[in-house]
Amino acid sequence: MQKTKAIILAGGSGSRLYPLTSIMSKQLQPVYDKPMIYYPLATLMLAGIQDILIITTPHDAPHFHQLLGDGTKWGITISYAEQSAPRGIAEAFVYGKEFIGTDQVCLILGDNLFYGKLDFLRQAIAHNQGATIFGYPVQDPERYGVVEFNADGSVISIEEKPSKPKSQYAIPGLYVFDNEVISIAEQLQPSPRGELEITDVQKVYLQKKRLKVEKMGRGIAWLDTGTPESLLEAGEFIHAIEKRQNLKIACLEEIALRMNFIDIQAYQSLLETLPNSPYREYCKRVLQEHLAP
Ligand code: TTP
Repeated sequence: MQKTKAIILAGGSGSRLYPLTSIMSKQLQPVYDKPMIYYPLATLMLAGIQDILIITTPHDAPHFHQLLGDGTKWGITISYAEQSAPRGIAEAFVYGKEFIGTDQVCLILGDNLFYGKLDFLRQAIAHNQGATIFGYPVQDPERYGVVEFNADGSVISIEEKPSKPKSQYAIPGLYVFDNEVISIAEQLQPSPRGELEITDVQKVYLQKKRLKVEKMGRGIAWLDTGTPESLLEAGEFIHAIEKRQNLKIACLEEIALRMNFIDIQAYQSLLETLPNSPYREYCKRVLQEHLAP
């Protein structure tokens, strides 16, 4: 299988969350009991990816460094790049060119949360040829890139934030691209709103007949957290499930252990660095259950 790296795009202006975002990046805001970026990071780790680039604004970069470091403690490698202004999602591949090298790449938006069995992503990574993106039915597709299918399930069109969406299927902020994405992104022209559009990248793959759009099953929850209401709802969602199951979603220490990114000794040392807190108690419980399942 081809090596897969990943990029978390965590820049942007977060203007819809003002004044929350006037001093702190959207992707560092709490989603119930963790900073938002823990969730996309957990998704990537659970998909088996250990080499991750985080793109932030220059202003917020030090906070992300402070929070996540170089990833060693979780058995992953985190590198950083800074996007000086929000010139579009597809610019991630321009900034990420050296990082991606000759590998394929998974891009996840830092404000997108996925909950459920992640086999759809593991399959996409394992079998991607060209580009693999997803379609997810939503009530308000006009807020997103929208994909239109014909009766046999093949893709007819992709449109960015259409005023009259041709389907209910929004494209979540999680994509897998082969290495050609770098040259495609480099040749892209900004759209009328001045951004390098991810939908324009997808259209190039569509024209080349190298785009696969998988419908994401109903068993997956996809949430984005760009508005005050959706941020609150995401927090409520995480809270409800964590409380019911008495398990944590996106506990990076637990995931690192379960994925064998770190061994038990490293996990124990990591535990000692955590402050006395319910989070630490949870991590201790994970260890006990791991040792005596
Ligand atoms: P958006 O939610 O489209 O934009 P935003 O985060 O700037 O918020 P707002 O519209 O409220 O001003 O961005 C989706 C994700 O992509 C989010 O995680 C920020 C990130 N992003 C970048 O990092 N760089 C960019 O140039 C753009 C457009 C988005």
